Amino acid sequence: MNTPVLSKKFAAVLSFLLLSACGGQGGGGADADTPEGQAFMYRDSVMTILANKMGTIGGMAREEIPLDEAVFTKAVNDLTSVAGMVTEGFMPEGIPSGSRSLPEIWTNWGDFEQKAQDLQTAAQGLADAVSSGGFAAAQGLVQGTAGTCGGCHRMYRERTE
Ligand code: HEC
Repeated sequence: MNTPVLSKKFAAVLSFLLLSACGGQGGGGADADTPEGQAFMYRDSVMTILANKMGTIGGMAREEIPLDEAVFTKAVNDLTSVAGMVTEGFMPEGIPSGSRSLPEIWTNWGDFEQKAQDLQTAAQGLADAVSSGGFAAAQGLVQGTAGTCGGCHRMYRERTE
């Protein structure tokens, strides 16, 4: 009775080969048929959005990108929403090929959740500042918010050489 298991495995291998043939990077190369592969693709997407929003927010805060209050405000609100989606990208546990997650995420899960909470709290602080005082009130909080990204990466993301 293990035919279904075998054919599922075969399908997984096939889809892996197809995906790798597309030269996928990051989560794009993961096996979409496994829960671990789906979690990796999910967190890869979440991180890509966080980086995009943080790029806009940081660029405007450092005055490297021309300020547009509406764009800044939207980026801060988007960042805050997506910050609440981080931890679910690490369930279930798994480090598929291409993933830079470190096993310590799951052995120190409580601390990892705290690092995600630090980002959420900082992003919410930024959002509150924008809604009460606009860009001027938020600008000084941006660096601290960006620091919470590194605070997690230092411990839980494999370094690239
Ligand atoms: C709670 C921990 C945590 C927080 C907070 C966090 N990250 Fe990450 N991030 C990770 C981990 C772990 C990975 C590696 C994921 C993997 O490859 O499996 C990662 C990967 C990434 C990547 C690489 C994505 C890719 O292409 O695979 C980027 C970019 C990134 N993070 C940006 C950010 C930014 C910007 C922030 C803050 C706004 C942030 N992260 C906050 C844990 C975190």
